[in-house]
Amino acid sequence: MTMPLRRLPRTAAATLVTLAALTTAAHSAVAADTLGSAAAGQGRYFGTAVAANHLGEADYTATLDREFTSATPENEMKWDATEPGRGTFTFGAADRVVDHARSRGADVRGHTLVWHSQLPSWVGALGAPDLRAAMNTHINGLMGHYKGQIHSWDVVNEAFQDGGSGARRSSPFQDRLGDGFIEEAFRTARAADPAAKLCYNDYNTDGVNAKSNAVHAMVKDFKSRGVPIDCVGFQSHFNSASPVPADYRQNLQRFADLGVDVQITELDIEGSGSAQAAAYTRVVEACLAVARCTGITVWGVTDKYSWRSGGTPLLFDGDYRKKPAYDAVLAALGGSGDPDGPGDPGGPAVTCTAAYTRTADWSSGYNGQVTITAGAAPVSSWTATVTVPAPQSVSSVWNGTPSRAGDVMTVRPSWNGTLAAGTSTTFGFTVVKNGSSAAPTVGGCTAS
Ligand code: G3I
Repeated sequence: MTMPLRRLPRTAAATLVTLAALTTAAHSAVAADTLGSAAAGQGRYFGTAVAANHLGEADYTATLDREFTSATPENEMKWDATEPGRGTFTFGAADRVVDHARSRGADVRGHTLVWHSQLPSWVGALGAPDLRAAMNTHINGLMGHYKGQIHSWDVVNEAFQDGGSGARRSSPFQDRLGDGFIEEAFRTARAADPAAKLCYNDYNTDGVNAKSNAVHAMVKDFKSRGVPIDCVGFQSHFNSASPVPADYRQNLQRFADLGVDVQITELDIEGSGSAQAAAYTRVVEACLAVARCTGITVWGVTDKYSWRSGGTPLLFDGDYRKKPAYDAVLAALGGSGDPDGPGDPGGPAVTCTAAYTRTADWSSGYNGQVTITAGAAPVSSWTATVTVPAPQSVSSVWNGTPSRAGDVMTVRPSWNGTLAAGTSTTFGFTVVKNGSSAAPTVGGCTAS
């Protein structure tokens, strides 16, 4: 994934000055040359579904690591994979995806805790009291195992029926526990990992229709009663029979207006060439037009491993070549795949460096300072990552706006995003040592 984390040298005098001259190339007229860095320039993540069994394929992993800043295990966190027998949790495959993503500073979306599909048969055989207990045990088991490591969880997936009824879908949970199972799942989830964003995720809710109206009413009710929900996921599986709705942006916006983030969680669009590219552009533009649309995840890296590979719905073909849809998404995100190619308007690239210094040190903690320096072009915004090794924890940050995924902290400007060419700004942070005085890893300076 972009923003690779690197172990950096310490000075002999242990003043612990480290320098991470990590730059993400970008052009003065454009932001970046990968999906992840271009999306970061827009304050968003760009993710993909990841299958653990492909991580050994060099081209798959190289494409994943280069382009994407978030990963969603495609099947590895589902109930059949993680709790195949009651109380028997298996995390091996999911751990491989999570560890791979987090070691590169990427976020992880958890998918999914309560879903009628890929549900082991023992769950469907339980009576109501047992099922309620099993649901909560499952949520606690997964969220406990990954506590502090997940950006957003799809707590409940696909709980509403298709069509015009607006009704809940029949499932063991719905049929035995009633409508209240969704609320209970979210309450359990909040207690299990208070740092994770909690999402409701569904398909055919991408435009304004009876199903999305029903989800909207549920979210509105949850917000009015204080049921913990932070985000709504719009799967966005499109093809000619189910194209990008004309009111896609308006639909995202009306959910955002309820006070939740919106995320595009499983995007794929069947087709090819310019038609496919144009549809992808519409999706990206809709997300960028909605301030609370915080990220986009495509449902796979390459067409050849897509759940509907015959429809070639993704951004890379079976040989990992960028498709026209890739170029369209990158352009819509403000990036450029060919910054020095024909049509390049000229001028230096927009880059930055991040240099770390330990400015204070005491028995139980230390202060770190990161100096962000613009390259040869002016900078209008920047991000940098700070990874504090366990068991350390960051207790405060100044002159920067942090967001955290596990022990990786991404810092964006507070008031200090604009830098003239060659000039610098700093942000700082306090670390509680918890017994370890190791240096943090600072890197991933991205400028736009
Ligand atoms: O791993 C086994 C393999 O050992 C076996 O030989 C093969 C035979 O069919 O099956 C393989 O498992 C398949 C698995 O994908 C991994 O490829 C399952 O059969 C297959 O059912 C499963 O499909 C997944 C599907 O969810 C199941 O509902 C897709 O990969 C996955 O992309 C898809 O994802 C869902 C989201 O979770 C929710 N939203 C819709 C989306 C698309 O259906």
